[in-house]
Amino acid sequence: MNPFVIAIDGPAASGKGTMARRIAQAYGFVHLDTGLTYRAVAKALLAEGLPLDDEALAGEYAEKVDLAALDRETLSTHTVGEAASKVAVMPAVRRALVEKQREFAQTPPGAVLDGRDIGTVVCPEAQVKLYVTASAEIRAARRTDEIVANGGTADSAAILEDIRRRDERDMGRTDSPLMPAIDAHLLDTSEMDIEAAFQAAKAYIDEALAKRNGG
Ligand code: CDP
Repeated sequence: MNPFVIAIDGPAASGKGTMARRIAQAYGFVHLDTGLTYRAVAKALLAEGLPLDDEALAGEYAEKVDLAALDRETLSTHTVGEAASKVAVMPAVRRALVEKQREFAQTPPGAVLDGRDIGTVVCPEAQVKLYVTASAEIRAARRTDEIVANGGTADSAAILEDIRRRDERDMGRTDSPLMPAIDAHLLDTSEMDIEAAFQAAKAYIDEALAKRNGG
């Protein structure tokens, strides 16, 4: 039987990452945060003082990304995130990374991938597709709380501005823009906590698993 694939897409700070980790743990599946692969390309270019808009060069760096060596800690800075959404518009970068992501999705017994284009481009055959979203205001508030909880200081107006700009870039690009796949289940978590969102996702996954097992 083919590995069971769960595709989770959504905008910045929608909670898709937390959801993806939780699902992977609950079902014993491997998990890949595909945002980290774009971040790895951006970080490597920044570290060497190279331009972020040279597609051939960025494509070469994308080919060198090692999925087993992605370090969330060093990749999670704001600067790297901004740079990631710039390199992510380039087809050469996407082509190289998508190939690695598809290979990862073949890991038995199943894989959870989260990103922007998993249900539409990377794994259009995924057995379950979720599109996790929340209003820009709520997402900004969550990100602000997260920074404060980690002991930092946050300017919530600037964070909201940032989220809007990132949404525009992710939804407005020509190659693989962020959008729900036609067969994705929409999960608006504006009014849901993590547990409620997880339970909603679990219901869709259990249904698909039962169907696959002939139930
Ligand atoms: O967590 P956050 O939403 O800040 O960002 P991320 O998921 O780490 O992704 C960083 C950037 O990579 C996004 O703004 C997207 O432009 C890009 N990305 C993408 O184009 N396709 C994906 N499958 C995942 C991320």
